[in-house]
Amino acid sequence: MHELYTVLAEYYDAIYRRRVERVSREIDFVEELFQKEAEREVKKVLDLACGTGIPTLELARRGYQVIGLDLHEEMLAVARRKAGAEGLNIEFVQEDALEIGFEEEFDAVTMFFSSIMYFDDSTIQELFNSVKRAIRPGGVFIADFPCWFYGGSDGPIVWDERKGDERLVITDWRKVEPAFQKLHFKRLVQILKPDGSVKAFMVDDELNIYTPREMRLLAEKHFRKVKIYGDGHELRPNDRRYWLVTVK
Ligand SMILES: C[S@@+](CC[C@H](N)C(=O)[O-])C[C@H]1O[C@@H](n2cnc3c(N)ncnc32)[C@H](O)[C@@H]1O
Repeated sequence: MHELYTVLAEYYDAIYRRRVERVSREIDFVEELFQKEAEREVKKVLDLACGTGIPTLELARRGYQVIGLDLHEEMLAVARRKAGAEGLNIEFVQEDALEIGFEEEFDAVTMFFSSIMYFDDSTIQELFNSVKRAIRPGGVFIADFPCWFYGGSDGPIVWDERKGDERLVITDWRKVEPAFQKLHFKRLVQILKPDGSVKAFMVDDELNIYTPREMRLLAEKHFRKVKIYGDGHELRPNDRRYWLVTVK
């Protein structure tokens, strides 16, 4: 069980408050990439590993016809509730990104916020195949992932957030194993209730590290055009986040 995406799904947006705040800027850049790189007009988008729908809802607000797909029903339940509250018409489906059931349905497929790091050397090839099947010719696949160099931390990183009258204290340990290209990630989430009671959850995760060159070489086996961007612009030497953009 993945606690962050199951028992903690209701707290995901509070834990990532800063990401919620910057999503509009992120989607500005994604729209720029649609304009620049897609070889067809982008109207219908599949947001893979959509989670609680932070970017999915923003795409729908801008008029795209969007379907959100995620492995975890608990995340989708939050996404459906949020979309309903805003009156947004978004379909959310529970599925594994490796087994997308759509054939040439979308002008664009997106996969945000490092979700692509869940796939290792062999499953990433399956992912590219699955994505390629779902995209129409000339359509794009866009996924962002971080630079490994900035991924680790010497000691714990602690911060706090609020969800209504509950207080969250979050402690992260992030260890990079350069030789194995893995990022080990441990997170303690403490939920402090107004009556003084505390609930605590430990999240343990392992993510796959890719350099921009590796990602490009892997994607080139599957897509006609592949480009790596930096965060909001062309690639620069010290970018902390990369954007993979491929065309079918
Ligand atoms: C870091 S969250 C990102 C959520 C969302 N994209 C965002 O930008 O906030 C990673 C998401 O990947 C989903 N996920 C992990 N493996 C998956 C898979 N094989 N298929 C579909 N979703 C997956 C998790 O359930 C989780 O919601």
